[in-house]
Amino acid sequence: MSIERTKVLKQPYSAYHRAEVSDVDEELTRVGRGTPCGEYLRRFWQPVFIACELTDLPRAIRILGENLVIFRDGSGRHGLLERRCVHRGTSLEYGKIDERGIRCCYHGWQFDIDGTILDVPGEPANSPIPRKVCQGAYPLHEWRGLLFAYMGPPELQPPFPEFDAFERPESTGRLWVRESPCNWLQVRENEMDPIHLTFLHTRLFGVQFEPVYGEIPTMEWMETPAGMLYATVRRWGDHLYLRSNDMILPNIARIAGIDDAEGETLFDRRGSALNWVVPVDDTHSINIGWSDIDKDYVIEDRSGYIERGAASGANVVGAADVGQTGEPSYEERQRAPGDWDAWVSQGPITLHGREYLGASDRGIILYRKLLRRGVQAVAAGEPPEGVDMGAENPVFTYCHNTVARLDAIPNDPDAEHALLLEFGREVTQRVLAETYAKSPAGCADPAGLTEIKAALAGSL
Ligand code: FES
Ligand SMILES: [Fe+2]
Repeated sequence: MSIERTKVLKQPYSAYHRAEVSDVDEELTRVGRGTPCGEYLRRFWQPVFIACELTDLPRAIRILGENLVIFRDGSGRHGLLERRCVHRGTSLEYGKIDERGIRCCYHGWQFDIDGTILDVPGEPANSPIPRKVCQGAYPLHEWRGLLFAYMGPPELQPPFPEFDAFERPESTGRLWVRESPCNWLQVRENEMDPIHLTFLHTRLFGVQFEPVYGEIPTMEWMETPAGMLYATVRRWGDHLYLRSNDMILPNIARIAGIDDAEGETLFDRRGSALNWVVPVDDTHSINIGWSDIDKDYVIEDRSGYIERGAASGANVVGAADVGQTGEPSYEERQRAPGDWDAWVSQGPITLHGREYLGASDRGIILYRKLLRRGVQAVAAGEPPEGVDMGAENPVFTYCHNTVARLDAIPNDPDAEHALLLEFGREVTQRVLAETYAKSPAGCADPAGLTEIKAALAGSL
């Protein structure tokens, strides 16, 4: 009997007929040197470490499948070197930090932060080694407490992008690093999947944020100068709630506020997070960045927040936000799973070839399309979109919450749906208009909302 196996099963009780194929999306999930996506991601500055967590010891880290060591030398400069000593391979995590650079523990070779060999003490005084060899090194850039690495071709190092997320000069947010034992993409894609707010976070296991998110929103996704955004609109009584998140290419999310929309508000950009999902390797990733941006952060001991050395200012290092780690017990996570459980349980590398995507996955589809565009541009020797965004800082982002009260919202479901879509489009068009986004008045200008409401009232 010949066995017929297929990718898509169409009969009940037919798992036996599942075709066994790899289905790994090689183009987007492999991150090592020389892989298409690995080369693409290496063209951008990537955050790799929280600066205040460095001590007098070097730290071994792994980024994009490369084993590295990060340290701050005696004169306060940061270095990121290949972990394996160029001499005979001993790990520099056992190195001794010097006033200038770091010294390997085995034979004392001394490396500057750029990999230059400064000293080979066991070799003859006129040894040619320092002139002939370098330790592998990558440049670092510190911004608001995070250390960013550039791991691409040196001659193509892009300007460092500074995002507009920090609107108040004193705002800093709370730094976090969260680890996931899975591929970076399934973690990052979560941000372009707004409907999971309705199910995972509201309807299925209780209200984790606000009851309004239990409503199924209208959803649209649009390209922006920075990448893409989603615009979701929900009706709650006589209010329309618009929530919009940015996805900034290639792996950056600027996330709107989730729990503080009160009354009418236009373009509330306080937001809740700016973060990167950086591959550790093909099957591990870190989510690293700031949460609670633009809020007065209060240092407190709750929900497992960990203060680690940064209590001198508002730069509080935290971890273990609800649902963002595997810290709760297995049973607790089964009874109330979070985002972490949703993406980690897809497997070490999820299988795009076995997915069955629906209309609510249009954001996932668009995000992958934009990534492939960038991956293929790099493979063709072209600069990927967004790589030079730091040429004009600050880099504008578009995420926001907007809430409007309307006097009359039609009860007919089709008319209501059309109204929600129109509201989302009207506001998003204004938000995407450069003059509006760049105007400081844009954040609080109620005239914009009045105008939108008048237009919508005319169409009712
Ligand atoms: S192995 Fe590092 S100095 Fe010899
Ligand atoms: Fe979520």
